[in-house]
Amino acid sequence: MARITIHDLRAMKGRGEKIVMLTAYDYSMARLLDEVGIPVLLVGDSVGMVVLGYETTLPVTVEEMLHHVKAVVRGSRRAHVVADMPFLSYHTSPEEAVRHAGRFLKEGGAQSVKLEGGREIVPIVRRLVQAGIPVMGHVGLTPQAIHQLGGYRVQGRSREAALGLLQDAMALEEAGAYALILEAIPAPLARAITERVRIPTIGIGAGPWCDGQVQVIHDLLGLYPDLAPKHTKRYARLGEAIREAVMAYAREVQEGIFPGPEQSHAMDEAVLAEVLALAEAS
Ligand code: KIV
Repeated sequence: MARITIHDLRAMKGRGEKIVMLTAYDYSMARLLDEVGIPVLLVGDSVGMVVLGYETTLPVTVEEMLHHVKAVVRGSRRAHVVADMPFLSYHTSPEEAVRHAGRFLKEGGAQSVKLEGGREIVPIVRRLVQAGIPVMGHVGLTPQAIHQLGGYRVQGRSREAALGLLQDAMALEEAGAYALILEAIPAPLARAITERVRIPTIGIGAGPWCDGQVQVIHDLLGLYPDLAPKHTKRYARLGEAIREAVMAYAREVQEGIFPGPEQSHAMDEAVLAEVLALAEAS
């Protein structure tokens, strides 16, 4: 089965078909999401916070990302898999960026990479695209710049900031990015960007007028125990379901109910008696 390409995503924008994107970090979840037809899976560096327990996304390494990208690629057949490039894996030089991004495609099996940043990363985006590596941009709230931004807050509210974001989006399109994540920006600004670029925009906390939406799967399923951001919506409470299930398991083990006859393998009593007799004799 052929995977969804960057051209398919562009065509979806052309048809006005919303692009659904979710994060995935492991084989089982990738299988589930792929089987229900989610077209784009992002192996986000949010893995650092929701799976690995880091306080921010900054400590995530290329090796850690590769480990998760490979699992998601193994679990999916049709989805376009985007590998998030972690902090400082693309900032130091275009050559370093190509080397790391290349690993996500060559070793990881991803179809594209995602980079956070605006006009300042244009030379890097150009170099990656020249090397045949499709790039998804990410502007607005860029969590890798958390210390510079001073917190996880909405971006682009002032005239200067909004103009800067519009210029970032247009510069990234010009540099060859095939799509853009717009994170935590006012909805009307996201609409203006979406109308001005030909590439698809995928929003997260950027209102309803983007060409698609992305969410962190743990937020959507109620799996992440910490405070859920305003832009997310809980479609399930799996955290509670997991807690109840494991408590029921623990209770049954303690009370000798689990494993029951259905979970136990039978054995011919005569064979066992023979074995015990042999053991006694030896
Ligand atoms: O790392 C991530 O999951 C992301 C999305 C929130 C867009 O960058």
